[in-house]
Amino acid sequence: MKNFLRLKFRQMANCAAMFCAALLCVVLLPVVAHAQTDLSGYWNVALQYPDGSVHNNFILLDQRGQTLTGVQITRDGGNPLSGTLKDGTVHMVAAPANAAQASRQTIYDGSVDGSVLQLKVANPNGTVYPAPTTKTNREGTLPPARLPLPAQRNLPDNGLVRTPPMGWNSWNKFAGRVTDKDVRDMADAMVSSGMSKLGYVYINIDDTWELGRDAQGNITSNNKFPDMKALADYVHSKGLKIGIYSSPGPTTCAGYMATYGHEEQDAKTFAAWGIDYIKYDMCSARTIYTQSLEDVQGMYQKFGEALQKQNRPIVYSLCEYGVDEPWKWGTNVGGNLWRTTGDISDHWASMDKIGFSQLAIAQYTRPGHWNDPDMLEIGNGGMTADEYRTHMSLWSMLSAPLLAGNDLRTMTDETKSILMNAEVVAIDQDPAAKPTQVLKEEGKVEVLWRSLADGSVVVGLYNRGEQATDVSFAWSDLKLGATKKLHARDLWKHSDVAVSGDTYTATVPMHGVVLLRVAAGKLK
Ligand code: GLA
Repeated sequence: MKNFLRLKFRQMANCAAMFCAALLCVVLLPVVAHAQTDLSGYWNVALQYPDGSVHNNFILLDQRGQTLTGVQITRDGGNPLSGTLKDGTVHMVAAPANAAQASRQTIYDGSVDGSVLQLKVANPNGTVYPAPTTKTNREGTLPPARLPLPAQRNLPDNGLVRTPPMGWNSWNKFAGRVTDKDVRDMADAMVSSGMSKLGYVYINIDDTWELGRDAQGNITSNNKFPDMKALADYVHSKGLKIGIYSSPGPTTCAGYMATYGHEEQDAKTFAAWGIDYIKYDMCSARTIYTQSLEDVQGMYQKFGEALQKQNRPIVYSLCEYGVDEPWKWGTNVGGNLWRTTGDISDHWASMDKIGFSQLAIAQYTRPGHWNDPDMLEIGNGGMTADEYRTHMSLWSMLSAPLLAGNDLRTMTDETKSILMNAEVVAIDQDPAAKPTQVLKEEGKVEVLWRSLADGSVVVGLYNRGEQATDVSFAWSDLKLGATKKLHARDLWKHSDVAVSGDTYTATVPMHGVVLLRVAAGKLK
């Protein structure tokens, strides 16, 4: 009996031991296994966009048990990142440390299997991308090595755009969504609306057309743009010209493949596709070069030289946001126009600030070489008709490029009446391109004027204030001489204005404009 009991006890003890061992396996082993997973180190998170392009992003992780901390590596340093690894599941959030930006979170969710980390990344705007993630090291996160820049020299003038370029650009309305079809549609609408007859001829594709490079290093377009040459042929068949976009850095502002280290090769590809205009946007070049005048001028000269080696006239649009005063050297690097400011947005405050800040540098614009205060927002819906008329009047008085930034397929009559005001377009396109000057500035009122090639004068009465206000000027201020009778025309009302007395006074609506053309003798 004793033996029997001992046996039973031993059996029970064995059972308990086996049960405990099994329990340990179920409960503890995963913990042990994941405790063995160490995600610490540098990772390349390769975001896969629906257009086929891959965007490498880097994170540095430090794992302590189930706790993950680290940095989302960005161009200007990094954002703190934190999260967990539990039962093979990863959840991490990165956001800028600065409180104002803290809501701009990137969320990483995924799983770890051994050393394979598979993530889905939700960008601050909520778009989610699959992102195979691979181990890398610090070097792997760094931009490529700096390549030499050419010694400074002045490139010849390419003879293009003797009046400010006119056309359309995809960025303001379509941003990263632009496709081949949109571009074809815009070409169609440019012609059917009558805009092309007024001189709007460039159909410019901005950022997000790029895929990567083929085995020979040639830049390729993503699945939104299946055949660039065919697209260029289509735009040309409409009697229009086509523009494209790249950056002197390794990636564009939207993180797509760019021209760094392939300057001649890309210039050749663009020429072979039939490109007529290129916007070259600094962006990631800042991770390689400094923002010194020497470097910025050097990177633009390098591509300017590459373009001039092609047997094709290509308008060269510099985009470095005015940081190094490109109005002073843009011509030397072969530039036809240069952005003078940061990005415009479809709001009064943005347009007003950019537009009126241009008066200080108006004297740098001249035929073939233009200050570019950014594309038009007319028709995009964020401003009133008065504000859009101010936008059009001001850009025209400044001889700025007129690149519509709206959807040309769905323009209202009001939008058409603004973009297609031939009398205002004629101011923009005046061949003399003299700088606009301030006739008077009183509080929120600016009276601007500029003389035109035919000797007439354009006067803009701008009300930047929040209420309608009376604005006047003396006819004699226009220095048109006293011998001939003055004739004046209101370019928005499309009607003649009676010239009588010494002064002209108009009630200008809030954020609005009255634009007159005045001549001694008959207006031509
Ligand atoms: C920069 C430019 C914009 C536009 C975007 C595209 O912000 O200033 O005009 O080209 O890049 O990413």
